[in-house]
Order: sequence, then structure tokens, then C-alpha cells
Amino acid sequence: MTINLDRPDLIVAVIGAGAMGRGIAQVCAQAGLQTLLYDARDGAVAEALTAVGKGLDGQVAKGRLSAEDKAGVTQRLRPMTSLADAASAGLVIEAIVEDLGVKRDLFRALEKHLAADAVIATNTSSLSVTEIAAGCERPSQVGGLHFFNPPPVMKLVEVIGGLRSDPTLVDALLAFSLRIGKRPIVATDTPGFVVNHAGRAYGPEALRIVGQGIASPREVDILMKEAVGFRMGPFELFDLIGADITHAVMESIYARYYVEPMYQPSAQLAVRVAGGLLGRKTGRGFYDYTDTPKASAPTILVAPQAKPASVWIADEDGGNDLAALLNAAGIQAAVGGSPSAHAVNIVTPLGEDCTAAALRLKLDPARTVAVDMFGRSLNKSSAHYTAMKNPRTAPDALGAAVAALAATGAPVTAINDSNGFVVQRLLAMIVNVGSRIAELRVAKPADIDTAVELGLNYPKGPLALGDLLGPARVLAVLDGMQTATHDPKYRATAWLRRRATLGVSLRTPD
Ligand SMILES: NC(=O)c1ccc[n+]([C@@H]2O[C@H](COP(=O)([O-])OP(=O)(O)OC[C@H]3O[C@@H](n4cnc5c(N)ncnc54)[C@H](O)[C@@H]3O)[C@@H](O)[C@H]2O)c1
Repeated sequence: MTINLDRPDLIVAVIGAGAMGRGIAQVCAQAGLQTLLYDARDGAVAEALTAVGKGLDGQVAKGRLSAEDKAGVTQRLRPMTSLADAASAGLVIEAIVEDLGVKRDLFRALEKHLAADAVIATNTSSLSVTEIAAGCERPSQVGGLHFFNPPPVMKLVEVIGGLRSDPTLVDALLAFSLRIGKRPIVATDTPGFVVNHAGRAYGPEALRIVGQGIASPREVDILMKEAVGFRMGPFELFDLIGADITHAVMESIYARYYVEPMYQPSAQLAVRVAGGLLGRKTGRGFYDYTDTPKASAPTILVAPQAKPASVWIADEDGGNDLAALLNAAGIQAAVGGSPSAHAVNIVTPLGEDCTAAALRLKLDPARTVAVDMFGRSLNKSSAHYTAMKNPRTAPDALGAAVAALAATGAPVTAINDSNGFVVQRLLAMIVNVGSRIAELRVAKPADIDTAVELGLNYPKGPLALGDLLGPARVLAVLDGMQTATHDPKYRATAWLRRRATLGVSLRTPD
């Protein structure tokens, strides 16, 4: 059998009229398809249709939709009163509660009413499509269409075939996604598919950085936005999505990948969830939303100091670039040679902490400060420096480094010693998890990048980010972190190591 969802008179039935179902139904109706909507709860469909109508009115008021088109959408979008009304549908999209047993019961009940060639697609975020399909009489006609919230706004759809899906099902769902104006990518039936899997780097590593007292949530957020160009910091994201939701996803991915250390959830986040500090929805998360936002104190207070006449910079990663920037700001920056007689020695390590870099280069730790040059290739238009001290750095040496960096006109955040600063750690983890997704064949390299850009709103996908940063530099960061901590969560994937050592793009197929 060839599955075909191309027919012009295709009818779509959406089951579940909650946040996702109503949005998916709206998208289908706006694409010109006759769309039916069902919910088990009395009144839910009527509420959903009213909400969709209000949303469309807003679009009409803004001139994005004509009144005539709106009328067409509302006329194509009709309620179902029972599952039997789905009999005419060629495609059913399920967006009910995230519960395997309830979904399986629904699918079995639906199959009794549907035509023999009808397709059922689940919008599940965390269950296996194969496992849902295993309860069906026709598992070959069950697949996944994973939309993102809110469906009318978010372009991405992950298309998933189950292990028993008909070989033509994925292509049919891809064509359908394009027909309703979405940008589909194909993902295998693996935990979190692409987007929820790729998202397991940014937040968890940021929690470790804060948990280790290296920087505050606010500082991490500011660095990721200003130094690297992310639209939101990891702690702003926790507060937006809700710590409870994020923590549940972290636990699910960790468990379903059989306690892979890379995805280890955070014990601190668990306490925050238990304490109700969920974010915007409870008025308090990492930030306080009950009042005007209060600035939290920086981790390290640096006494303002006049800019130094000269600094010494190690002849390592980004050292010459930093020297050029400081020279332009009127500070004599000597790269390499003897470090004596300068206000401060600056090191620019990859994956190494300030302590180890000072000792390796035989510098006086009290006069040494580390500066992160890793992410500069991503965000040349603006800069935000990180100055990292070791436990022996003298306050005047840190003050001199901060004053020198500030003389370039860019803000500076001072942090405590860490293998990989803040930016290196977060970016290297994002690239490594992206590489693991490629290695596990969850999706094609280009699709991984598209999914992360559209689904997570990162400035670039993980493999593209790795290419811009330089795969060998990313590998150096991870190797430095793993050597120092012996923590397996920082081990580089074979996908990354091979491409970094061969000097090729992280998107290079095997
Ligand atoms: N909310 C998100 O950000 C998001 C994103 C992507 C995917 N998803 C997935 O989409 C699905 C729905 O999520 P949501 O956020 O819209 O949930 P929701 O709670 O807003 O809506 C679920 C709706 O399903 C209805 N329902 C429950 N059991 C039913 C049944 N047996 N038959 C018919 N209707 C039933 C409920 O009455 C409710 O209206 C879940 O599988 C979820 O994992 C959610």
C-alpha cells in the first residue's frame, strides 16, 4: 500500500483541543483543509474554537488576515461530537494527554471508525511512536507529527516513523507538513526526537555552572546573550517554560537513554520544583516576577581601577586578537615572551581553568587572570568579556585585567575559576550533544541544525555552531573539561573527535 495524503479533499481530524490541538487544527484549517476537532471534556472544543476565533480576529485587526479568509477558516474548522465523526478523515492528529495507556486506548477506539487507509499521527513529546503504535491493529499507519508550541507560530514539525510504519508513511507526512506551511524534518523514533534531545545541553550545564558557584544565573544569561548572541539566557528560558516542565523532560530523556551522564538532571532544580519556584507562572523562579525585576549582585565585586599601561598575554588561542583589541584601546599588550613587569598576565585557555593555565605556563598565579576568547567568532558585532580568576589571583591583578578589557568599551563579567569559563562550557556541550544526535542517526546533520534553530531559537544549529567555533577548539574545550574533572558527561563524541581531527565540517557524513 502507498500512503498518500495529497488528495485535495483530505479531511483532518484533530483529537484533543488543548494548547496544542487547537493550534494544530487552526493551522490545518488555515491551509485550506476541512478540519474536525474533538475533545473528551465537555465544552473543551467550544472553548478552543472561541479562542481560535479570537486569535484570528487579532490577525484581522493587524491586517495580516482578511475578514473573508477568517470566515473561510472558521467555516472549515468544525467540532466533532463523538469519535465516530472522524470516519471521513484521511488523517487524524492526536494531541491528548501525555499518557501511553490513554493514547493507546484512543488509537484502538479510533481505528474502529476510520477508513482502512487512514493515518493516525501522534503529537507526543516524550513517548515512543512505536510503542503507541504497538497497541494498534494497523501499526503501519501510525506515525508522529511533533508540532511546537504555539503551532500557528512555530514553523518546525518533526516527522517520525515508528519501527513498524509503512515505508511510505514518512514521505506522506512530510508532504502533508509542507502542505500546511510547515518546515518538516525527519527524526527517528528516539527519546526527545531532535529538539527535546538537543535542548539537554544548555540548561543543565548552566545549572552546573551556577551550582559550582562560578557565576550567578543573571551573569550566565547576560554572557550568553551579549557575548554569543543567544536570544534568551538559560535561566530566562527555565522561567519561561517552567522549571517543572523542563525538569520532567530532563528526567525523561536521562531515564530513556539509560542514565547517560551527558543528560544528568539537576538536583538543585528538583528542589526548586518541589518548592514551587517554577518561573513566570508562579511569580518566582530564577528571577522575581512579583515586582520589578531586581538586579542580583555580581558574583565577584571588582573595585574600579584605572586602566593599566601594559598587560602580558599568553601566545595561545585568541591571544593576538585580544592584544589587537587592547592595543587599539591604548594599552600596551605584549604577546608571549617574558611576563615580568606587567600589571597582569592574561591567559586565554580552552577547557582549562585559570589555575592550571597559570601553572602550566609557569606564571605567578597571583598575577594571572584568564579571559575567554572562544565565542568571539560568533558575535563580532558586540562583545562581553569574561575575566576569570583563580583562588590566588590578587584583587589588583583582577582589577587591572577588568579595567584593561573595559577600556575596549565592552562590558566585563568576572567569574570564579572553571574549566571552560561559562561560554565555552555551554557552547561545547551544545555542539557535543548535537554531534551525539548525528552519531545516533536521529536525523541528518542539516536537519539537526534546522530543527534546533527553529525549535529552540538558538542563533545557529549545534553542528553549524561547532563549525563556526572550529571543531578542534570545541574538542579542546571538552577534552580539557574531561581531563580535569574525570566526569564522563564531558567526553567528546566520536562524531566530533573524528571530524575535528580530520579538519572537516561537523556536518560531514560518514
Ligand atoms: N504543550 C506543549 O508545549 C507541547 C508541545 C509539543 C507536543 N506536546 C504534546 O501534545 C499533547 C497535548 O499537549 P497539550 O499541551 O495540548 O495538553 P493540554 O492539556 O493543553 O490538552 C490536552 C487535551 O486533551 C484532552 N483529552 C485528554 N484525554 C483525552 C481523550 N482520551 N480523548 C480526547 N481528548 C482527551 C483534554 O481534555 C485536553 O483538552 C501531549 O502529548 C504533549 O506531550 C505538547
